[in-house]
Parts: sequence; structure tokens; C-alpha cells
Amino acid sequence: MLGIETSCDETAAAIVMREQSGKGTIRSNVVRSQLDEHAAFGGVVPELAARAHVTYLDHIIAQACREAGIRLDQVDAIAATAGPGLIGGVLVGLTTAKAMAAALGKPLLAINHLEAHALTARMTNNVQFPYLMLLVSGGHSQFVLVRGVGDYERWGTTIDDALGEAFDKVAKLLSLGHPGGPAVERIARNGDASRFKFPRPLLREERLDFSFSGLKTAVRLQAEALAPLTDQDVADIAASFQDTVATIIEVRSRQALERFAAQFPGQAMQLVVAGGVAANLRIAAGLRTLCDTLGATLIVPPIALCTDNGAMVAWAGAERFMLGDTNGLDFTARPRWPL
Ligand code: KG4
Ligand code: ZN
Repeated sequence: MLGIETSCDETAAAIVMREQSGKGTIRSNVVRSQLDEHAAFGGVVPELAARAHVTYLDHIIAQACREAGIRLDQVDAIAATAGPGLIGGVLVGLTTAKAMAAALGKPLLAINHLEAHALTARMTNNVQFPYLMLLVSGGHSQFVLVRGVGDYERWGTTIDDALGEAFDKVAKLLSLGHPGGPAVERIARNGDASRFKFPRPLLREERLDFSFSGLKTAVRLQAEALAPLTDQDVADIAASFQDTVATIIEVRSRQALERFAAQFPGQAMQLVVAGGVAANLRIAAGLRTLCDTLGATLIVPPIALCTDNGAMVAWAGAERFMLGDTNGLDFTARPRWPL
């Protein structure tokens, strides 16, 4: 399966094999990040992203085939992210996939980007259904119950900013650069996480939703109150913010796992984490402790497969292809597409 991903700022293509047994093998996984294109703007500029996808995608696909040691006409089918995401970029990948599918007479799989994140742990860790997924990336923060291929139930989502976005905005207001998550984590190592008490929006409510915009505002007000900031102030704010977020994620994940246990009594509790924020060691440590306490299994795929990549799209395509669930060439790109 060829997989193509262009829904945000990664131009990516991969070749993945799925055995009858369910085992997955990544034959190649080429990702070109557009960090340089967007660096000057402190965030992803959709028009620039789409143009860069046009420039690089053909080369990335050719490289994925070369590294896998196959010709394009040897793949069984072609999968591409068809949404949700920045529509210009999605159109580039999906249209390229359609053109190749038409020219080569291969089936097309129009993949939901969230579904691709959700199924990745089956490729890397052979996880069996059902399981709970926590997706925390620059564009999404949600809990999804994964019952089977194509059988998903969203249990909660953010009502404002995504978690990665909150990290990026906090980094920006602390002048730490983009992408913000890794920068905040690095600076936070020198900080005192107990110095500031930031709010935990929604946390007293039972629902499994997130809200990060009030937290971000509280961080901004604190930074303005202290200005000009010393290096120690910046480190303490970053550490306090990161700790607050880790607590929010832990509390919500506990609730989600308890709901999972109630719905599937006697079944193994499995929590799969996906998205770029999964790279955060403070958050991952909190989740590990929680899962140990509850007797749940925490599954964090290798971080290169947690962030956007082509292999996850190829794998989701392969899972759907095995079920005969292909798409017509008239499938249209979808900027919004909840699971
Ligand atoms: O999944 P991803 O690569 O792209 C999508 O948004 O789909 O996630 C990128 C996000 C960015 O917001 C970035 O700041 C955040 O993940 N991130 C982190 C860390 N590494 C990346 N956030 C917190 N801590 C990190 N170590
Ligand atoms: Zn993603």
C-alpha cells in the first residue's frame, strides 16, 4: 500500500505491507517537514503549505518507492489523507492519489487522518480491538473509542484550542520559537512547576472534553504581570504550564479508562497515545503512572509514527483494503471530518 499524507505541514509518503496475519511492515516512510517554510510566521501558513506539497510530493513518492525497492505499478492500492485538515494541502495529496489510481488502474482509499492516527498502534504494537485512543496533536485533542476498523466513537474533544496549539501559543508568548512543544519542554526542565497555579478549565465537570484557551490566557496574563521576564520566570511559567496540562490529561484519562472498564467489563484496558504531544516526557510519565495504578496498558508508538507520516495512512488504507472498503474517484476532500 502506498500512503500519502499532506493535510498539514508534512509532505509524506510511505510503502507499507499488511500480512494476512495482521502484521504490518513499513518498507519505507519518507517525511519532509516544512518547518523552514513557516518558521518566520510562527505557525503554519496554509497557502505556503499547499504550494510546498505541490513542489515536493512527486519526489517524496518516488523516494518512498525507491527506498522500498518497488515500482509504483507494483502497489496493490493507493491511500491518501482526504481530510480533516488544511484543504489546500489535502487536495494536493488526494488529487495526486486519484490521478495515480486512474492512470495505473489501482483502487483508491480516501483516508480520514484521525482514523490513520487511531489505527497506527495496530501496525506497530499489534494492538487488538477494542482500545481507547488519546490523540493530542497540533490540530486535535480527543478521546476515541476504537471498536474496529471504521467503528469509532468520539468520547470527548477540545472545545477550543488543541493541546499542541496551546503549547505553540505559550511558546510564542514566551518567545521560544516554533514548534513550541519541544521548546516549552526543554525550558521547563530548569523551572519550578509549583511556582504558578494555573486554571484547569472544565476539570470539575464529568464530560471527557478539554478546554485549553483559558489556560493559555492565564499564562499570558501571568507573563504580562511579570514583564520583563527573567530566564527563570520563563522556565517557571513553562514548567507550571506543562504540569497543569499533564494533570488535566491524567484526570481525563482516568475518567476515560473508568468508562472503558464499565463498558467492557473483564476486557484488557488499553490506552493508545498518538499525536506530536505524545513526545512530551512529563505527560507520558503521568500517563504511565496512571495506567500502572489502574492496571491498564499504555501504548505509545515510536514518536516518528505518532506525528504525521505516510505509513499511518498506508496502514489505515491496508486495513480498509483487506475489508474491501475502497473509495471511488469522485470522493471529495473534506476540511472537516469527525470520526
Ligand atoms: O502530530 P503533530 O506532529 O502534527 C499535527 O498537529 O498533526 O503534532 C505537532 C504538535 C505541535 O503543536 C507541537 O508543538 C507538539 O505537537 N509537540 C509537543 C512536543 N513535541 C511536539 N508538545 C509538547 N511537548 C513536546 N515534546
Ligand atoms: Zn495528525
